[in-house]
Amino acid sequence: MLRPSNASVPCDQSGVARAVAALRAGGLVGLPTETVYGLAADARNNAAVKRVFTAKGRPADHPLIVHIADISDLHEWAKDIPAYAHALAERLWPGPLTLVLPARDDTSRLLTGGQDTIALRLPAHPAAQEVIRQTGALAAPSANRFGRVSPTSAQAVVAELAEVLDDADVVLDGGDCSIGIESTIVDCTSARPRILRPGFYAEELINDVAGIAGVPVSEASDVPRVSGSLPGHYAPSTQVTVVQPDDFAGMDGARLEHALVLTTEDVAVPSPAAHVMKARDALDFARILYAAFRRADELEVQEVLVTTPPAVGIGVAIIDRITRAVHGSAHMNP
Ligand code: TXA
Ligand code: MG
Repeated sequence: MLRPSNASVPCDQSGVARAVAALRAGGLVGLPTETVYGLAADARNNAAVKRVFTAKGRPADHPLIVHIADISDLHEWAKDIPAYAHALAERLWPGPLTLVLPARDDTSRLLTGGQDTIALRLPAHPAAQEVIRQTGALAAPSANRFGRVSPTSAQAVVAELAEVLDDADVVLDGGDCSIGIESTIVDCTSARPRILRPGFYAEELINDVAGIAGVPVSEASDVPRVSGSLPGHYAPSTQVTVVQPDDFAGMDGARLEHALVLTTEDVAVPSPAAHVMKARDALDFARILYAAFRRADELEVQEVLVTTPPAVGIGVAIIDRITRAVHGSAHMNP
């Protein structure tokens, strides 16, 4: 159990030093990244990596992302890296992009969930980079219990995991995540890239950048999507319902009163609504989405009423996460 007095440490030199020491000793660290917080362990320490699975309640066949500090580290984990994957790494790293590549024979199958592919990411958050530079590669899934909403603040990590962490572990407070939803995952194990999980980097950009390395853009976008996770992932306990902006006007006052509304600034929400969060634009929407889900659980409202942004750019990823939350919450609150 992480004691409240020890709950999180600031992201200064001494906080980073504590995180590094914890990781070197086989401990776990709540690590800020630009997407969501990760629960990090030394990727080369099997016992520490196993603890990540236990702490999250994550099945062993669900692979982890290995976070690296330098593009050249790709070769320590992956082999047969296609030219387009190099192009993606050169252009879009550090950043919210995960590449799935053929795993080297000596890459631990504990990390890959038994598969022969490995997911790699070079995060942009300076504190994450500093920690990884000092410790070496870190295996870090999102710092939530399996199937739950990813944390986008240090407080959310503590709320989610304090009971399963111990005092040798550290949550590093790097502030609120600037992107707010998980990285775009691109499968780079075939001749053409495939998006496994949409994110901040949209499919058009991925295809454009991959196209630099000679992959025909039109063909790449014909490839069917395969989801990297389960349909009910990323769900709060509160029921999530998608509504249209026009629905609010005629909505029952009691329903509005007992809901958390998440929408954009141009949408009018009548006054019985007690809890309203409004995003300035699609980027802001992504940034506050998971905080809104957590707030709804804390407030114990009856539902989250959410409008969806247009399905362009990061909007595709936001709609993906909302759809999963609708499935997951329906599952838990039949
Ligand atoms: O933004 C992010 O990617 C965050 C931060 C912490 O970096 N991490 C994250 O990790 O979202 P996690 O474990 O919550 O989600 C990783 C996803 C899972 O859905 C997993 O199935 C998929 O990546 N994945 C990992 N390795 C894979 C592989 N070899 N092949 C296909 N999918 C893989
Ligand atoms: Mg996750």
